[in-house]
Amino acid sequence: MKKRYAMTGGATGIGAALREQLCAAGHEVISIDIKEGDIIADLSTQEGRDRALASVRERAADGLDGFIPCAGLPPVAPPRIIAAVNYFAAVAMATGLQDLVGKRRGTVLLVSSNSAPMTQTSHPLAQAFLAGDEAKALDVAEGEMGQTVYSASKHALTVWMRRNVVAWAKAGVRLNAVAPGITDTPLTQQVFADEQLGGVMRDFSAMVPWGQTAQPGQIANVMRFMLSDEADFVCGSVFFVDGGSDAMLRSDQF
Ligand SMILES: NC(=O)c1ccc[n+]([C@@H]2O[C@H](COP(=O)([O-])OP(=O)(O)OC[C@H]3O[C@@H](n4cnc5c(N)ncnc54)[C@H](O)[C@@H]3O)[C@@H](O)[C@H]2O)c1
Repeated sequence: MKKRYAMTGGATGIGAALREQLCAAGHEVISIDIKEGDIIADLSTQEGRDRALASVRERAADGLDGFIPCAGLPPVAPPRIIAAVNYFAAVAMATGLQDLVGKRRGTVLLVSSNSAPMTQTSHPLAQAFLAGDEAKALDVAEGEMGQTVYSASKHALTVWMRRNVVAWAKAGVRLNAVAPGITDTPLTQQVFADEQLGGVMRDFSAMVPWGQTAQPGQIANVMRFMLSDEADFVCGSVFFVDGGSDAMLRSDQF
């Protein structure tokens, strides 16, 4: 059956691969992105989020089968923008579309990362994200290293997902997250090109138990399954698609 999805970050990388797969399967995809898409918006700003939400609501008044906030910035981006897009835009957009997804008993699939467990929930920045005061959290982020902000944004997003599973299920929405490992995308290329982080990332990718880097389509395959009716009892899950690196780093935790 033809479904309707809205997503952010569909212009390149993992988002583009997912958009292409969903369209190829005959589904309608409303893509929001700063670069190119059905709706052009800078989701680091309130104005961009409001405009994107209004535009999706206009196009999908009778509901959405799913929403995927995939837009994200790498650890080498300015900390405030990482925080604004990776955490606050994802939560704001999902919340702003909850009723439309609930209308169809659909799903919101967040995009976490295998770096999410590298920060603890007790970290002041994760706490600042989860407190929901964006202006304050962006100020805290400014004093941290990019990789800490990136990891904390993905950690907080995953905890936000787990904390909201019950309420969102009652509202007719199943919440889940995919946690990709190092994937060959423009985001990763920016990190590989960075003087400080490039070497660390290359060493890490050489340690991935099952291959080194994923192709975007390998992540999108799993996301497409998680969005499908075949996954309709999957709720509150964090699905690592990372070639075994999370298991390598945290063998006794799951
Ligand atoms: N590539 C990886 O190794 C990896 C690993 C784990 C998680 N992720 C996550 O996967 C998601 C997709 O990443 P990717 O690797 O495909 O990166 P990418 O850079 O190819 O794609 C990111 C997309 O977000 C869009 N975007 C950036 N800033 C925006 C803004 N302010 N407003 C609207 N759109 C904006 C970009 O235009 C682009 O289309 C991100 O959330 C990222 O954190 C990626």
